[in-house]
Amino acid sequence: MQEIPNKALTGSVAWTCPSNIALIKYWGKREVQIPKNPSLSMTLREARTSTGIRFSYDPASDAPKLRFRFEGRESPVFEKRIKTYIKGMESLVPVLKFCSLEIDSENTFPHSAGIASSASALGALALCLVQLEAHILGQPDPERFWQKASCMARLGSGSASRSIFPGFSLWGRSDSWEGSSDEFAIPVQNYHDTFKNLRDYILIVESGEKPVSSSAGHKLMDSNRFAGPRFDQAHSNLILLLSALKEGDWESFISIVEEEALSLHAMMMTSQPGYILMQPGTLSILHKIRSFRKETNHRLCFTLDAGANVHLLCADADAEVVEAFIRSDILRYCENGRVIVDRMGQGPYKPGGQ
Ligand code: PMV
Repeated sequence: MQEIPNKALTGSVAWTCPSNIALIKYWGKREVQIPKNPSLSMTLREARTSTGIRFSYDPASDAPKLRFRFEGRESPVFEKRIKTYIKGMESLVPVLKFCSLEIDSENTFPHSAGIASSASALGALALCLVQLEAHILGQPDPERFWQKASCMARLGSGSASRSIFPGFSLWGRSDSWEGSSDEFAIPVQNYHDTFKNLRDYILIVESGEKPVSSSAGHKLMDSNRFAGPRFDQAHSNLILLLSALKEGDWESFISIVEEEALSLHAMMMTSQPGYILMQPGTLSILHKIRSFRKETNHRLCFTLDAGANVHLLCADADAEVVEAFIRSDILRYCENGRVIVDRMGQGPYKPGGQ
């Protein structure tokens, strides 16, 4: 283990990290945050969390303090969760035992919009902690830096491991992809130009809190009788999707991505007890997207998170016509006509280019 310096020091670190949308879904895990199947996602651009930490490192102090503010306000609920997470990270970043931290965090998207913020939040926090360690101990090589950040983000929220990389990210061991790991995500760089800048229109059907949390949903997979075939399906869909991405094969892309979304929700419906997160508006949108695609041949499809909202994905070149379709046929199913316009992003960055 690297030696802990005995000189006190202060400093600050900051990272902005985007959210991501899974195309191959992670649903089911074992200890400690190890996925039962590999997943693949697209990192977003507009839905982001920015986190800054002012730290004061003192190896003589045995009672470091932590203060957390979300969007300028004290947040005891978040603060408690973050304290627990950071405590858990001390084995990976031992200098944390001697650091008092003042953490400030904010999102670019509304907190109550019904889109998951854990991926961007944990991604930004993990990056800050690895950066803080680098400040005190010296910079690790870049590959190690990103890998450690992805691993630490994963320990906070599995899907957050994928937000650390731009474009497409793969998390979870697959024999088909060298370098893939259950511990951290890796970037997938081998994809066709047709998938560059993929658009993601997040259609907000319902913004409220989900009746069943993701962690409860993962747990229910332990007793789901379809879990085994589902994990096999994800493994084979990953191979098919990687090939479609490389070949620029939209037809396969669409069929795999939609199948993954529906399988995720099938798992929810067939859990014991079963539950349904889709709303009538969700189903109406799925039908509309399929009819529009059939009629026009435009390159668009849907995917779903663990909730009622729909992610409408489309080719960059088809964005204008798809936006007109959203306005004319889809907005009526969205809560207060709410849509978050997003697209493939370039991954995390240090705000202000510090
Ligand atoms: O990272 P978690 O534990 O919030 O689980 C995320 C699960 C899904 O969003 C439904 C799928 C995924 O792969 O992101």
